[in-house]
Amino acid sequence: MIGPVAVILAAGQGKRMKSDKPKVLHEVCGQSMIRHVVNAAFGAGVSDVVVIVGQGAEHVRASLAGTPNVHFATQERQLGTGDAVKSAKAVLSGYDGPVMILVGDEPCLRSGPLAELLEKQKSSQVACLMGTSIVPDPTGYGRILRDTTGAFLRIIEQKDCTPEQAAITEVNPSCYVFMAPLLWESLEEVIPSNAQGEFYLTDAPEILQKKGHEVQAIVTLEPDDILGINTRQHLAEAHAIMSRRILDKLMDDGVTIFDPKSTYVDSRAKIGADTVIYPFSVVDGEVTVGKNCRIGPFALIRHGTVLADGVEIGAFVDIVRSGIGEGTLVRHLAYLGDTEVGKRVTVGAGAITANFDGRHKQQTKIGDQVTIGAGSVLVAPTSIGDRSKVGAGAVVTPARPVPPDTTVVGVPAQPIARSKDNDGRPVDPEQPPR
Ligand code: UD1
Ligand code: CA
Repeated sequence: MIGPVAVILAAGQGKRMKSDKPKVLHEVCGQSMIRHVVNAAFGAGVSDVVVIVGQGAEHVRASLAGTPNVHFATQERQLGTGDAVKSAKAVLSGYDGPVMILVGDEPCLRSGPLAELLEKQKSSQVACLMGTSIVPDPTGYGRILRDTTGAFLRIIEQKDCTPEQAAITEVNPSCYVFMAPLLWESLEEVIPSNAQGEFYLTDAPEILQKKGHEVQAIVTLEPDDILGINTRQHLAEAHAIMSRRILDKLMDDGVTIFDPKSTYVDSRAKIGADTVIYPFSVVDGEVTVGKNCRIGPFALIRHGTVLADGVEIGAFVDIVRSGIGEGTLVRHLAYLGDTEVGKRVTVGAGAITANFDGRHKQQTKIGDQVTIGAGSVLVAPTSIGDRSKVGAGAVVTPARPVPPDTTVVGVPAQPIARSKDNDGRPVDPEQPPR
């Protein structure tokens, strides 16, 4: 491994979530907590990540399977954070560079402060550098003790604090950078710290310092970065923090969002400049929206959907796994699932694709410049050719896909002769439509 590397602790169950799944697999803005922390570590510049798994190990592994440069180490019994880190030793054998240690239940960690931490450790070459944070309410965190000169003394866990120590607002977010050989050396000297016989990682910096190695703690993280998730309430807080960051970034990049409080955009979504999102709209999952689109109010754009430039999605529209071509309008109350729609199409109010045949999802293909009438139903699999029109209330069936330049009406939808073509020119009833 080139390094620096990150070790992310994720072996705990998280009892207070009252969940069958491991805590780190709960999602924040569309992605699991562990995925967010892994992304933050790579974003900060690590070459490799070792995830420590234990409770629900197979699920955590599966959720990250196939991610390049992610390795796993198993902690058989949850004997504390110090023991958890030790589990990574075999995977990192032969590596002697900096090791950043993070915890998997702090999903709002940003890569910026972590990169700063790695950078400072690199330039100072200290044995251990800790990022700390000053928070309004330190409850639950280990506190940072410093001497009268401000130099780091040690970390003290909440339950071991005197009332004076408990009042300290500088806390340990569990973001450390250790030089690998000294990390392993210090962990050998950590002794069980509590009645449960847990090995505390928080003892390692003090051990190194007492042996004459340089240890520093610097305030680098914002309170929002270090929100640790133990309960569903914390999960909702993390969601609010991350959601606001996602929307702020989109606005920085030129997207208009009228009401951030009622708008939700997934952490994986991409949205082009000059797109306008009206209130109460949801972009959920891996979705790409082009430039100059209009979305909502009350629109739901779901995973696997790609909107080209200049697309308008009206009120109460639901779209999933679909591609919508440039300049197409999807009017209010429409539903499109598993549908490819061409350019400059109008999908009328209440038109829907019936994309589920009772067993499988089926595809619908709509060509360019098509008009789909209000309240029509396209029963998939089916297709509508370029420049065709589907009358209001028509039901297009799989047996009768609509060819190009054709107007269909009725149930089931059938072609009718037209007196004018799409350009308003009279049509010769003897000639087949072009
Ligand atoms: C830890 C720190 C505390 C810090 C806080 C928030 C210790 C002793 N205390 O406390 O100073 O303020 O995090 O960052 O480190 N884990 C394992 N294996 C174990 C135990 C824990 O993988 O045997 C994992 C958990 O899954 C979790 C992380 O380590 O992701 C932190 O463990 P947790 O029990 O939440 O520690 P805290 O009590 O919050
Ligand atoms: Ca915690």
